[in-house]
Amino acid sequence: MYAIIGGSGVYDPDMLSQQEERIVETPFGAVEVTVGTFKGAEVAFLPRHGGGHSQPPHLINYRANMWALHELGVERIVSTSAVGSLNEDVAPGSYVVLSDFIDFTKRRPTTFYEGPSSLVPEKDVVHIDVTRPYCPQLRSIAYDSGIKCGMQMIDGGTYVCTEGPRFETAAEIRMYSMLGGDVIGMTNVPEVVLARELEICYASIAMVTNFAAGISGEKLTHAEVLDIMGKNKKNIQRLFKVIIPSIPKSRDCECASLLEGAKG
Ligand code: HPA
Repeated sequence: MYAIIGGSGVYDPDMLSQQEERIVETPFGAVEVTVGTFKGAEVAFLPRHGGGHSQPPHLINYRANMWALHELGVERIVSTSAVGSLNEDVAPGSYVVLSDFIDFTKRRPTTFYEGPSSLVPEKDVVHIDVTRPYCPQLRSIAYDSGIKCGMQMIDGGTYVCTEGPRFETAAEIRMYSMLGGDVIGMTNVPEVVLARELEICYASIAMVTNFAAGISGEKLTHAEVLDIMGKNKKNIQRLFKVIIPSIPKSRDCECASLLEGAKG
């Protein structure tokens, strides 16, 4: 099964037929997921923030979300999220297929493996490899699909993840930029890391909604982010209709065996 995780402004699993709402119980809480089919493929749709943007980024139950998808048998996830751009060459309206991240989150559980106190049966200590955090096979499908849809695609970019929910200061953005960040958001970590712990292939398409603080000199508002996401919703929906049937049945990446050698 494949999964789509929708970020801000992308809540509508329109494309799926035979839709069914499922409540998946996990050791971290229950998660509502829509399951359906698209061109013969089984697809789960999960709005990351819950319906109607009810959970702010720092309070999203990432472990419940990812565990629920795993429980449903999901092996491939393509997610979308809204990001600000740190790079003058990456303009609002473009889409970055993420290739790396820098984690500046502060107080989120980022692992399923918490030793003896673990909520789940996995009591080992695990140091998962994140040298290349995003699945190369899914990344290239996402990029090629975007090009086919005529979208402004950028192949690779480093995502800076902040704790939020506030936006950044201009000084912080200067620092993140010096550190090599290209885009900035509040949700990709720990989502991508947890996917790797579950040996799920994960790729993410970051939709640039704004220049980050201090780059354009204007005040940032969440309304502006939602406005741009709303305007680009059709693009994202078209994109998934191309991505899903392009995913080959077999995985030719290393994601399926990530836990080998990772346990202590
Ligand atoms: N900063 C952090 N998160 C964001 C931004 C931003 O500028 N735009 C959309 N999500």
